[in-house]
Formats: sequence, structure tokens, C-alpha cells
Amino acid sequence: MARIEVSRDPAALARAVARHIVACTAAAIAARGRCVLALAGGSTPRAAYGVLASGEFVHRIEWPRVHVLWGDERCVPPDDPRSNYRMAREALLDRVPLPPGNIHRMRGEGVPTQAAAGYELLLRELLGSGGPDALPGAGPDLILLGLGDDGHTASLFPGRATVHERVRWVAADFIEAVDMWRVTLTPVIINAAYNVSFVVSGAAKAERLHQTLEGPHRPRQLPAQAINPTHGRLRWFIDEAAAARLHRPWRIG
Ligand code: 6PG
Repeated sequence: MARIEVSRDPAALARAVARHIVACTAAAIAARGRCVLALAGGSTPRAAYGVLASGEFVHRIEWPRVHVLWGDERCVPPDDPRSNYRMAREALLDRVPLPPGNIHRMRGEGVPTQAAAGYELLLRELLGSGGPDALPGAGPDLILLGLGDDGHTASLFPGRATVHERVRWVAADFIEAVDMWRVTLTPVIINAAYNVSFVVSGAAKAERLHQTLEGPHRPRQLPAQAINPTHGRLRWFIDEAAAARLHRPWRIG
């Protein structure tokens, strides 16, 4: 059962997510000596990354023990304004003492299918797995995800086979709706994570959020419904505007 935390506005949401990242990082380092954190792309998480890099939060994380991944990437150069890596670098990575070797970028500027295969190899080396087709024993410590207006998450889009992927940890997919190749983690590795946390803000997401959380199970149309950690914890960090169409009384954070 997912835990829903509703913040009063985007600024409160950003702080709630920053606190959550601090808590998950500390727990992972205490339990496993490091934290493997996968960042979400898009615009919503940028504010939380900024809070995390602020003077009030930056010293709460043992950055040399953190490894940063991405949940997905647009297939553009890393300095392209659309790049999820560029967004995270500007909002967070350039402002915290993270060793460069701990930043694991999806090389979206290359051949998409090769970028996906290379990232999967990187994940298998980083996380360890029992062989080329083994499912992940233990996934990343925290994966942050967003929710698109159409219900997509990471770059798992409605109607795409990646939503139902059962073997590959990382896939490349051409998304006509955005006329772009994407590289994305698949539900195989996402659902192996210790913590999966969605961050959703704004009235524009309210109907999709209601459908995703309270509607029939139809992951083909609502890919975020394919996210259900096998052993980890699922959380939704949302603001009141995004929660406006939810019928159940969720805890106000
Ligand atoms: C991407 C993201 C994507 C994003 C949602 C929400 O590369 O676009 O990974 O899944 O999280 O589209 O985006 P916003 O936060 O900009 O609404």
C-alpha cells in the first residue's frame, strides 16, 4: 500500500522531498555503506534538488557515499536545455561535494539502444547481479519519479512495450508524442528498489493522479501503475493542487 504525503504548496513539497532524500540516504548508508539514488527528470523535482543543495540541507548528506543515477534521459547532448542530466547538474550536482566518479549519466547523445545497453551494464556492475539475465537482487536505494500529464513515468509512456518489460533493466524507446528517443529504467529495476517515491505537483496532474491512484488497474494506459516495488516502499509526495481530485482522505504532510 502506497503512502501519500500531501504538502500545502510546491515550496512545502520541495522541502518534504528534500527531507525524504536525506532520510533515505542516511538509512541506506547505515545499512549498506552507500546510497544509490536515481534522480527524476522533468521540471517538478528541480525545486527539491535546489533545497537539497541549499546551506540548510547540503551538510545533512554524506555525499562521497552517494552514487547518482537517472530514471530516464532524453536523447540529446548533456548540455541541451532538455537534458535531465543538465537540469540535475545545474540544480544540484554542481553545488554539492559529490565525487565525479559517483555521477552515472545516461549517455543520451549516443545511439539510444547502445546507451541503454551500456547503462544496464553499468547498473549490473554497480548493483551486482547474478549474471547477464539475472533479475536485480537489490535495486537502487531510492528512485525518484515524476508523473506526466498523460500518466507516463520516467520514459515509460502509455501503450509502449517498455511498460511491460520483464527482463531488461534499461531500454531505449522512440516516443512519437514528444518526437524524441528516450532511455529509461524499466519496471524490472524500478520495482527492485528499496524506495520508490513519486513527486507530483500542480492542478494539471490532478485528474491523472486520481486515475492512477484510485482508478482501475490499467498500466498500459497509466504506466505509473506498473510501479509496485517487490520488497521496497512506495511513496507519493504531492501538493494540494495535484491532490484536488483524490477522493480518499490522504494524510496532509
Ligand atoms: C522526463 C521525466 C518525466 C517527468 C514527467 C513529469 O524526462 O520528462 O522523467 O517522466 O518526470 O514528464 O514532468 P514534469 O515534472 O516536468 O511535469
